[in-house]
Amino acid sequence: MSKILVTGGAGFIGSTLADKLIAEGHNVVVIDDLSSGKRGYLNPAAKFYQTDIASSEVAEIFKTERFDFVYHLAAQIEVIKSMADPKRDNAINVLGGFNILENARLSGVKKIIFASTGGAIYGDASKIPTPESYPAYPLSFYGIHKLTYEKYLNCYYRVYGLDYTVLRFANVYGPRQFKGGEAGVIAIFIDNAVKGRESVQNGDGRQTRDFVYVDDVAASLLKAKEVAYQGEINIGSGIETSLLDIRRDISKALGAPMAVKEGPAKPGEQRRSCLSPKLAKKILGWEPEVKLEEGIRRTIVWARSVNN
Ligand SMILES: NC(=O)c1ccc[n+]([C@@H]2O[C@H](COP(=O)([O-])OP(=O)(O)OC[C@H]3O[C@@H](n4cnc5c(N)ncnc54)[C@H](O)[C@@H]3O)[C@@H](O)[C@H]2O)c1
Repeated sequence: MSKILVTGGAGFIGSTLADKLIAEGHNVVVIDDLSSGKRGYLNPAAKFYQTDIASSEVAEIFKTERFDFVYHLAAQIEVIKSMADPKRDNAINVLGGFNILENARLSGVKKIIFASTGGAIYGDASKIPTPESYPAYPLSFYGIHKLTYEKYLNCYYRVYGLDYTVLRFANVYGPRQFKGGEAGVIAIFIDNAVKGRESVQNGDGRQTRDFVYVDDVAASLLKAKEVAYQGEINIGSGIETSLLDIRRDISKALGAPMAVKEGPAKPGEQRRSCLSPKLAKKILGWEPEVKLEEGIRRTIVWARSVNN
């Protein structure tokens, strides 16, 4: 049993991870400012500190708790917000993260595992599915800040010996996904569908993404704790799915066509995104298990069961 910090542990992926760590018998502590996470998603067995990852309270928490492992998931997650206010994105995703990293070093944490992004780091890649070796020239501040943090982790490993692994997620979906702002398309479409509202499809619907179910992502995070690999690993399915495919699968699961209004394409929107999962299989022994149809079905069951 280990003492484990999950930053962002009240969020979509973090709370799912915390549940699984607790089920494995670990002692879990969550740091989250509840800016997009929810108190109701917190596992009752987790100790909770409601604070900003950039705050001075973080040093006290590390001194008191003495973590073995740190999962760093807390983040500003919206690309558009990062473009509108890059300083704020930097304050959270770089400086806030740095506060976690520096305190991890000072308190002797064994390993830090970081939730990075595939889509925003590779951009409109010419190689699909995109491997980790693809040149990283992000087109957003969100992508730049995630990449910057990856470099900090590498530097901390080589200079101070603090172990780490980076997981670059594809498009994660499933129960508890934040559905405000620029959330995942599956979360928005399903939320609208179960509430009888129309969804808007931007563009021709042939743009593709790589969707991976949240339980599979949590499983990859659990495995990352067990391996010695100081680098980046994609967590995706390797399958390109279009918006039209998503509409079809949601309609099938609903038993009726979902209501969709077709709108103009979003300027600058990425056309294709799909990550190669080969390295994840080799290093982590990880492969996604939940097929899209099944994941959508489970997400609809959840969306119908909650009133949020
Ligand atoms: N969802 C995806 O498709 C996806 C894809 C790639 C990477 N990621 C990364 O995975 C991680 C988790 O994302 P998610 O989808 O669960 O989003 P989320 O918004 O549900 O989770 C983020 C959590 O961090 C908390 N948080 C935000 N700013 C904070 C701060 N300054 N201090 C403390 N807590 C703060 C939020 O309240 C929230 O609970 C993020 O790092 C995100 O960048 C997600």
